[in-house]
Amino acid sequence: MLLGNKRLFSISEVRDDFPILSKTIRNGKRLIYLDNAATTQKPQCVIDSQRHFYESENANIHRGVHALSEIATEKYERSRELVRSFINARSRREVIFTRGATEGINLVAATFGRANVQENDEIVISHLEHHSNIVPWQLLCQEKSAKLRIIPMNENGELLLDEFTKMLTKRTKLVAVTYASNALGTVTPVKEIVQIAHAHGVPVLVDAAQAMLHFRVDVQALDIDFLVFSAHKMCGPTGVGVLYGRESILNTMPPYQSGGDMIRSVTFEKTLFNELPYKFEAGTPNIAGVIGLGVAIEYLTQFDWSTIAMYEKELLTYATEQVKAINGVRIIGTAAEKVGVLSFLIENIHPHDVGTILDEEGIAVRAGHHCAQPVMEHFGIPATTRASFAFYTTKEEIDYLVRGIHKVKEVFHV
Ligand code: ALA
Repeated sequence: MLLGNKRLFSISEVRDDFPILSKTIRNGKRLIYLDNAATTQKPQCVIDSQRHFYESENANIHRGVHALSEIATEKYERSRELVRSFINARSRREVIFTRGATEGINLVAATFGRANVQENDEIVISHLEHHSNIVPWQLLCQEKSAKLRIIPMNENGELLLDEFTKMLTKRTKLVAVTYASNALGTVTPVKEIVQIAHAHGVPVLVDAAQAMLHFRVDVQALDIDFLVFSAHKMCGPTGVGVLYGRESILNTMPPYQSGGDMIRSVTFEKTLFNELPYKFEAGTPNIAGVIGLGVAIEYLTQFDWSTIAMYEKELLTYATEQVKAINGVRIIGTAAEKVGVLSFLIENIHPHDVGTILDEEGIAVRAGHHCAQPVMEHFGIPATTRASFAFYTTKEEIDYLVRGIHKVKEVFHV
């Protein structure tokens, strides 16, 4: 049903769009998929787009003079326009397709980072980061004898902005922060971070891998310099993502990978590079994946996201209250602003054991350090069990999780 020009958000109809959500798993148990921060499920339209491309449209792009190549190129570039409009970039030249958020960060570290960071310079990241927004900067700092500085966080898992402000100096070359923590769910104050950094003339990279599923990100309103995200965490295919970069900065950056499609002309003496964004897209890209990302964006933008945000907020509040009320359960990450991530510990039971018992009940969660070991270290723990939600998660699924936690306690007699 349509409300205005948007599709009405009906949870049962939305779930019908995702074929995997009605599957059974392990001993015929109903699948309760609560691992959406690891990867989201895909709606039928995205699944169909992959098959359709390979059945009817498969050709290489930007190269062929034949009809099929023109169709594939048109579809691929149409996705670029969909991404541009989705994040409100000024131009398609600012939208670079990558393998995912990780590659986007590595691209910026290897190009902008290598060109701009010198000995004793500083890069600021936060204590909340996923390893993919730590290690590329650590390697760059090692290479350049530069310093990595860390914005600290409090016991709720919220960043301390006063400390951040004090950290910025003439030596700071870049701030790289997550928009939403994969381990705790904390949403960071990106707008304020960008304002503070820009007041010191420092550009900001935002890792929005965990944000794109939950809220809309407007790069112009936030004045972001670089934004990275992955398609598979927002209902699209794996192996494809986006790096948004401010055109004036991208223009100053050397190429990342080199090869076909990123050049204008090549002789054995000299290569002239292609214009943006192609300068940063060497080799045949994940054409089907990019087209699938476009379809995922079309799927997501059918809905009014203020309605979905309200639904997700209610769901997280419900899950937090239900899980917190269980004796012996401790929730890790209690920030005031969170996306649908619930990290928790049950007494002294190892999260891997919790994950295994929940799995026997058909409940899929992630257990471990979530590629965010510094976050775990902050709380003095090796790991958590993490349930993560999407707009298609239901209260009933939360009730299954609660029953699953009671089962874990029964098994361990706690
Ligand atoms: N980064 C993904 C997660 O948090 C894989 O699970």
